[in-house]
Amino acid sequence: MTSKIDQAWTTIQSHGQKTLEELFAADANRVGKLSGRIEWGEELTAGGILFDWSKTHLDDALLDGFEALAEARGFADKRAELLSGAVINVTEGRAAEHTATRGTGADASVEEAQALLLRMKLLVEAIHQGALGEIKHLIHIGIGGSALGPALAVDALTRDLALVDVHVVSNIDGVALEQAFAACDPATTLVAVASKTFTTIETMTNAASALKWLGDNGVDDPGGRVVALTANPDKAVEWGVDETRVLPFMETVGGRYSLWSSIGFPVALGAGWDEFEAMLAGAAAVDAHFASAEGRANLPLRAAFADQYYSRVRGCQTRAVFAYDERFGLFPDYLQQLEMESNGKRVTVEGEPVDGPTAAVTWGGVGTDAQHAVFQLLHQGTHLIPVDFIASIAPGDELDPAHHRILLTNCFAQGAALMAGGNMAADGKDPARAFPGNRPSATMLADDLDAAALGALIAFHEHRTFANAVLLGINPFDQFGVELGKKMATDIEGGEAEFDASTKALLEAAGLG
Ligand code: F6P
Repeated sequence: MTSKIDQAWTTIQSHGQKTLEELFAADANRVGKLSGRIEWGEELTAGGILFDWSKTHLDDALLDGFEALAEARGFADKRAELLSGAVINVTEGRAAEHTATRGTGADASVEEAQALLLRMKLLVEAIHQGALGEIKHLIHIGIGGSALGPALAVDALTRDLALVDVHVVSNIDGVALEQAFAACDPATTLVAVASKTFTTIETMTNAASALKWLGDNGVDDPGGRVVALTANPDKAVEWGVDETRVLPFMETVGGRYSLWSSIGFPVALGAGWDEFEAMLAGAAAVDAHFASAEGRANLPLRAAFADQYYSRVRGCQTRAVFAYDERFGLFPDYLQQLEMESNGKRVTVEGEPVDGPTAAVTWGGVGTDAQHAVFQLLHQGTHLIPVDFIASIAPGDELDPAHHRILLTNCFAQGAALMAGGNMAADGKDPARAFPGNRPSATMLADDLDAAALGALIAFHEHRTFANAVLLGINPFDQFGVELGKKMATDIEGGEAEFDASTKALLEAAGLG
């Protein structure tokens, strides 16, 4: 018997493939149907983002098919489970409660998350007021989810004004830490050790070296300059951090979903508490939309419909994202972990092999730079690559308005050109100058790329990732795929393992054999 899931996929796959031009010609209201805004705040804090998916191949019939798929996959129930703190991360037996830090979740969890954030606020304010002496620099040490969100947010939000100069260090390569040391004065530097588990080898090794650097450079009590951001507070205390400077977060907040918890400490310290709170408010607005909008009107779910269409029906193995804004330059890096660590899986929640491609490879860069590097392939290469554009109506700079105008017109022109195609030759016949067109893109246009918009965009992608996982029937909240390589590295360190001939030769060549 064919399941409802198979039936929905059959409907989706048998849908005729009209061109984007044909889709626009067939429906005068296409832009109205396939774009929508999420808004937040009042008066001075008001803002919003327009999510325009009209340049994708979604149409009414495909949306019907995907809504049937979402229903067959139990999307509404899964969403309710996520947002009420049910045990949805089944392989690890826990809930995924990142939205509780933004006010949506089980009452007890929301209360706990708020109390933990208050503790963080008090410490941030005390540090700003000089409780730990004069602090001008923060070296934030973490990796993966304990670094990518903070790096993005600090870079986006402290360009005009940094209350504390923040350096995010993740790599075990000592070059990264040395670079931070060179930029900081040990006498006025605080170190944040950010690790959900407080056991990650890169972070703990870097943290020990940072403490030694403080001690070697005249700081009497290096331990007094350390703040721990972790879901394993006992471990942090055992490691030597004073309890008053341990900022815990809930075990049910996943690493790549943890920017909203104490892992966001460098954002609050560097950009100020109000900015951190605005980021939470932007995310909360998206949570409210995601919780209540149904079917195609749910913007993260609609984006997931397009993602599934391109990856499963059109065979697209990658999706590119370009921020037309310097401030959001680290957004593609952040998204890579969120999407690829969450949905780069090969079995379903039931442990069965998945029957199609899972996460696309996420990649991207900054516009307009990327136009002069990778867009050639997007326009004329043989791969079909859906593109996401992120842009801001308000400029981030105070120079001649020509800068921002050219930035935005280039962004919009790229989407238009990918869709329209054509031939640049005078006679319209030169194959080398021909553009096939019919290439999809989506545009996220914020009123301003401020703290609230950053929070909203990240939350939008968290929910888009979750929606994709539900449509695929997989668990986005575990990450066992990173464990095997870690174990092998530990085995090499311990000198215990037997390796293949190639690895042995490499170890010997490096003097490690
Ligand atoms: O490499 C996998 C991972 O567990 C990520 O999911 C996580 O964000 C990162 O390592 C860092 O982990 P932790 O915060 O525990 O140091």
